[in-house]
Amino acid sequence: MPLRNDSSNWGVMAKTFHWSIATLIFVQLALGWLAVAWPLTPTKLYLFIWHKSIGIVILVLVVLRLAWRLFNPRPVFPASMPPWERAAAETVHALLYAVLIVLPLSGWLLNSAAGVPFRVFGWLRLPALVAPSRPLTGTLIGVHIVLGWALISLLIIHILAAIRHHWVRRDVTLKRMLPFTRIDPDQMQV
Ligand code: HEM
Ligand code: HEM
Repeated sequence: MPLRNDSSNWGVMAKTFHWSIATLIFVQLALGWLAVAWPLTPTKLYLFIWHKSIGIVILVLVVLRLAWRLFNPRPVFPASMPPWERAAAETVHALLYAVLIVLPLSGWLLNSAAGVPFRVFGWLRLPALVAPSRPLTGTLIGVHIVLGWALISLLIIHILAAIRHHWVRRDVTLKRMLPFTRIDPDQMQV
């Protein structure tokens, strides 16, 4: 399995980035809600440490993913995809990347404004991005929550589109993103 993308298939690197980040996002959303809802016990603190640490891991992975993508163009769309669908796919992907950068940054900012010292997995100290401020913390919590819902909305569109490609249009879009699966370049004509 080649590391790099070619004109019909995603390479191992792009697939590994896609599925590892996707898994972490689902864990991360659950941790965020759990940490906020948990009663004030030591477990709440651990849920927050995991939420913040995994959030920073996602940020680093997304930056590396975008860097890899810069030197590694995506495979072409299936021939049957009309121009509006290609534009819609590109827009949703660009918005997903933007939210995946801005959302963890808003968490880091809100943690700084709240004046909470924090080490990633209890090890690497993160510098504060802004001075402690109560009003700013309140605003940033709102921003973090709105961005969380923006991410969920984009993911619903994204996953419905993948299902439509596979079961309605019956093209290779989902199949070629699955691990250990390669498609024949001839199938791109479908
Ligand atoms: C949290 C979860 C997810 C995130 C953040 C995410 C993000 C992305 C992004 C940014 C791309 C564009 C890749 C690029 O052009 O560089 C992409 C592609 C893709 N994703 Fe996801 N994804 C997630 C979950 C899923 C799930 C659950 C499915 C399947 C049901 C899926 C199916 C696909 C497919 C098939 C592509 C390739 C689209 C194409 O060839 O145009 N993704 N994903
Ligand atoms: C992709 C990354 C992230 C996602 C998807 C995410 C998602 C969430 C969600 C869903 C909540 C619960 C919001 C609510 O309903 O009240 C939350 C809360 C929170 N997150 Fe994140 N988060 C991410 C990254 C981060 C990072 C990197 C940090 C800090 C370094 C962070 C710090 C916080 C804090 C402090 C709260 C509690 C806010 C409050 O007091 O209501 N998050 N996050």
